[in-house]
Amino acid sequence: MTTAPAMASRPQGPATVRVELGERSYDIIIGRGVIEGAGEEIARRLPGARLAVVTDQTVADRHLKHLTQNLTAAGIDFVTIVVPPGESSKSFPVLEQVLDQVLAARIERRDAILAFGGGVVGDLAGFASGVALRGMHLIQVPTTLLAQVDSSVGGKTGINTQRGKNLVGVFQQPDLVLADAGILDSLPPRTFNAGYAEVVKYGLIGDAGFYDWLEGNWRAIAAGWPEREHAIEVSCRAKAATVAADERESGARALLNFGHTFGHALEAATGYSDRLVHGEAVAIGMVLAHEFSVRLGLAPAADTARLVAHLREVGLPTRIAAIPGGVGRDAEGLVALMAQDKKVSRGKLTFILTRGIGEAFIAPDIQADDVTVFMKDHMAG
Ligand code: GLY
Repeated sequence: MTTAPAMASRPQGPATVRVELGERSYDIIIGRGVIEGAGEEIARRLPGARLAVVTDQTVADRHLKHLTQNLTAAGIDFVTIVVPPGESSKSFPVLEQVLDQVLAARIERRDAILAFGGGVVGDLAGFASGVALRGMHLIQVPTTLLAQVDSSVGGKTGINTQRGKNLVGVFQQPDLVLADAGILDSLPPRTFNAGYAEVVKYGLIGDAGFYDWLEGNWRAIAAGWPEREHAIEVSCRAKAATVAADERESGARALLNFGHTFGHALEAATGYSDRLVHGEAVAIGMVLAHEFSVRLGLAPAADTARLVAHLREVGLPTRIAAIPGGVGRDAEGLVALMAQDKKVSRGKLTFILTRGIGEAFIAPDIQADDVTVFMKDHMAG
């Protein structure tokens, strides 16, 4: 599939991607400046609804006025709930504070929570909307590339506990996603790149044509219109199709975890710290998934080299050795973390492997020992 001509032929203006889930279907509206029409879109879809806008301090300082002026102009009544920025807000105490403020504002079930931020705010506010009053409306207005192409779409929400990441949460599909590509102009390059890793993931999983296009256009995607919008749209279409086919991850949705089993272990080993953000862990994880597939005789080594070259060019890490401060664990220790992330059954793990760029598949029977030997070699190399 070649995706570049689709971009050339699409008229200027927002693109709409529909997530088909029966009566819970919803639109993702993608474009530069779509936030300007947020109030109107929301008033049209949820007439008379009040909003609890949940955001973090960083996004509030940069963009909140812009959004709230628009809501006011559309006659929408709202309250604002600001949480501290960072992964630590995905916690029971912060969830409790958000719920308390939602209830204190007498927000009703027919009203909505609007998540205005990156993945942390989306997961936290999304979870709150799933449990407040036993479930209310949710609008996602993601402000990072990662949230626009991945976490705001598909309904996964949740918080972290002492026992791991995202282990408590609900599936809660939004009523609307507004992905304003212009808001990404102010993202620090490292945050932008972390989201770009998830864009690359869609090419690697099932769209070799898109991957080719990314190799030639990544600079333009970072620079802005129209390539950035196109990359977000293709990513959201891939995610929407996967979620529509398997909302609760009983099958094909697991493909979206490509690189994530390796990546989550690295994140856990680095204490979910700034030394390695999620998208960077996914970048290394996707390289490991390719290398391991080559080791098993499933994929050509040339595709791994191609992926490594692209991620390096973009400025993403590709090896465990590149993680500042190291991971403080040997191969066995990392595989033990992988086993916690994805349940082991009789010494076997489920991985997403690949036959080459654009050809990922679910491999449910991987021997933990094989992964350990592979990881030893990677870490020695
Ligand atoms: N981020 C993977 C999923 O939504 O299934």
